[in-house]
Amino acid sequence: MIRARIVSTGSYLPEKVLTNQDLEKMVDTSDEWITTRTGIKERRITSNGEASSTLATHAARSALEMAGISPEELDLIIVGTMTPDMLFPSVGCLLQDKLGAKRAAAFDIFAGCTGFIYALSVADSFIKNGNYQKALVVGAENMSKIADYQDRRTCALFGDGAGAAVLVREEGDRGIISTHLHSDGRYANLLYQPGGGTAIPATHESIDKRLHYLKMDGNKLFKIAVKSLEETVLETLAFNNIKNGEIDLFIPHQANLRIIQAIAKRLNLPEEKVFVNIQKYGNTSSASIPIALDEANREGRIKDGDLILFNAFGAGLTWGAALVRW
Ligand code: ACO
Repeated sequence: MIRARIVSTGSYLPEKVLTNQDLEKMVDTSDEWITTRTGIKERRITSNGEASSTLATHAARSALEMAGISPEELDLIIVGTMTPDMLFPSVGCLLQDKLGAKRAAAFDIFAGCTGFIYALSVADSFIKNGNYQKALVVGAENMSKIADYQDRRTCALFGDGAGAAVLVREEGDRGIISTHLHSDGRYANLLYQPGGGTAIPATHESIDKRLHYLKMDGNKLFKIAVKSLEETVLETLAFNNIKNGEIDLFIPHQANLRIIQAIAKRLNLPEEKVFVNIQKYGNTSSASIPIALDEANREGRIKDGDLILFNAFGAGLTWGAALVRW
């Protein structure tokens, strides 16, 4: 059987730390509120000049180094992001240039926080169809650049960072087993950045109205997230005819500790099988799963042959899951 195997991982977090105590000085919030409602204690924030492609480049170099693969060997680069350096060209192309990945096709996937799973799924298809041998899949986000630090309902949630994985076409049963993607655009305005695109181009008025910042109805999202995440996991297990007990490590998108715990409880997954690092980084959108995967990998929490389940939910709305044999 031909599979796309994840042969290495990498991640990068900007140095600057923004703690809940720092936020208490910026908006009407408290460490206690943020911790109990979200599980987040601090997040990393980019400095000026650190764009998403900068974060992606660091994470990608780290993954390539672990794989022992040079950028010139890459056939494909896919970046999941909702915070590109600019509307065009893509972060993928900027990354391709920074890495010197001369042969690689490169593009971005806009699927909110589900970006990494969507990107993984597309790379998996390209590899399985025989077009490409080696692919780099990245999730890179600069959420602090679109977060409104006057809006306590959103600014506490998000952080910046990037994670990467190198996929190689291989014969055997290790690699991506299946991916399951969904969307529902009826809920587009539950999480969106209204200004700066072609619907509301940037003007003095749009800026004054703060339309270039992310808007979110967190409460409605929360309920849809828990339901759709559970459904996608059950769909993935049923499709592969496996039981929840067979999952060795569950790496969910890190949006809210309460969402992660609700899913883990519904699926009867013990704490030690659920990877959580939201307390350190907040919600890094597309980057959260590859950052968590890289941490789990480097901490030795994943063994050859382990079954790993990813699942995410985000703007679009989009949601999805991926099952991987390590
Ligand atoms: N500090 C203090 N008070 C706050 C804060 C804060 N940081 N944020 C909100 N509040 C207040 C609200 O203003 C509200 O007060 P009010 O009743 O006086 O107006 C009160 O707390 C309750 O607000 P809710 O929104 O109902 O709080 P909730 O318990 O739902 O928690 C949260 C909010 C954390 C946002 C939660 O709904 C959530 O995590 N939702 C999911 C969001 C999500 O996952 N988004 C990302 C999707 S992924 C992507 O694509 C980026």
